[in-house]
Amino acid sequence: MLIDTYGRVATDLRVSLTDRCNLRCTYCMPEEGLQWLAKPDLLTDDEIVRLIRVAVTQLGVGEVRFTGGEPLLRPGLVSIVERCAALEPRPRMSLTTNGIGLQRTARALKDAGLDRVNVSLDTLRPEVFQTLTRRKRHQDVLDGLEAARAAGLDPVKVNAVLMPGLNDDEAPDLLAWAVRNGYELRFIEQMPLDAQHGWTRDGMVTAGDILATLRTRFDLTPEGDEVRGAAPAERWLVDGGPARVGVIASVTRPFCRACDRTRLTADGQVRTCLFAREESDLRGALRAGEPDEEIARLWKLAMWGKKAGSGLDDPSFLQPDRPMSAIGG
Ligand code: 5AD
Ligand code: SF4
Repeated sequence: MLIDTYGRVATDLRVSLTDRCNLRCTYCMPEEGLQWLAKPDLLTDDEIVRLIRVAVTQLGVGEVRFTGGEPLLRPGLVSIVERCAALEPRPRMSLTTNGIGLQRTARALKDAGLDRVNVSLDTLRPEVFQTLTRRKRHQDVLDGLEAARAAGLDPVKVNAVLMPGLNDDEAPDLLAWAVRNGYELRFIEQMPLDAQHGWTRDGMVTAGDILATLRTRFDLTPEGDEVRGAAPAERWLVDGGPARVGVIASVTRPFCRACDRTRLTADGQVRTCLFAREESDLRGALRAGEPDEEIARLWKLAMWGKKAGSGLDDPSFLQPDRPMSAIGG
């Protein structure tokens, strides 16, 4: 098992398949100038499947989430999903995507064994989308969402980040739209993971702000801690349910004590936390021809070093060197 010194067990693996993206969300990437990982440093499809196999068959991982950058930009994605679906025990598999290209691939992903998707969409207004992401792709995301639902990926979740002065007035409209379309909406507090280091605590929209705005239009009933488990989202029933809304308050209401996650970057480094400043190299061991047992040992050792929390509340907090796009959500 991937256990740490605080007794937490990591059963949920997030795998970043690429650090590249076809959007440039302001809270994630700069307009230009970000250095991409070099091709030879990226894990190959075979290496990724091997690491997931070790995690699932030897280390107790039961959930695998593919992230990026934008994971749909990885040519081998469908085949990676298919090969992971053949593992025993079969892990549950999900994808965090910006939705662009999902219209073309949702069906193939579902057929390959993908269970569910999280699509990032911060606004219903095309012009605000363009300001936030620096690209004119709003309709592509909406089409991708519909294709995901039509393909039977279930649930289809939508992630939204609110930015002051841009889309922070849109929370109720987004929720009404999500409820109408059968998508499960979750708001994510903006975290200090942007490549430009532009985040400030005073300049972010908090969970408290979001809930207050939503309550002007909806009746929200807390779902309760018993159903939350290790889920980062706190959830509320909307107008008595069954529709729900979630808020991931990593900054103002951290949930590190229940964390069950371990992360793998596209270049084969284990990260114990989004905010970790240390990484453990597995690619080197893979390429040195080490057996599965050694890979598993190194992974366990890495998790043993997992810190109690993100350190966001500590005045000495330092943002990790990698931006969100190179870690994976
Ligand atoms: N803070 C909060 N959420 C972020 N995401 C990307 N960067 C940040 C950030 N700095 C979100 C994306 C996506 C998920 C992977 O994380 O919008 O939904
Ligand atoms: Fe791309 Fe996601 Fe970063 Fe936006 S948040 S630039 S969609 S990786």
